[in-house]
Amino acid sequence: MPRRIRYYLAGCVCAGLFALTGVCGAADMGGTVKQVCSRCHSTKRICLNLGVKSETAWKSTVAKMVEKGAQLPAGQVDATASYLSQQPPDSGAFCD
Ligand code: HEC
Repeated sequence: MPRRIRYYLAGCVCAGLFALTGVCGAADMGGTVKQVCSRCHSTKRICLNLGVKSETAWKSTVAKMVEKGAQLPAGQVDATASYLSQQPPDSGAFCD
């Protein structure tokens, strides 16, 4: 099977799972954000702001971090901001 079609199918399965449970996208997003955002500073900086910053505030923070060099995939600023604004304070992903 050509590789491109396999990616396409994987994308469909992921999108389907995401629609059903929200697990696929969220798990993915958490891993990426944690990895990208812990390169320069501890995730404690993020932890301290969970439940504090609004989605709009996160958007400007994430955009600022990208300006500093955070390597988020292109076009992921909004999705990242929305993900962060939905994390509960003390989220294990950023506060351990
Ligand atoms: C290229 C290095 C770098 C990366 C990667 C990075 N940051 Fe930062 N971050 C900084 C620096 C430097 C500061 C302190 C200076 C400042 O506050 O502007 C900071 C400060 C912060 C602060 C506290 C200040 C504020 O504006 O609330 C938060 C929250 C934050 N970063 C979140 C993130 C998130 C979320 C990501 C991933 C999208 C990220 N950072 C990735 C360099 C980085």
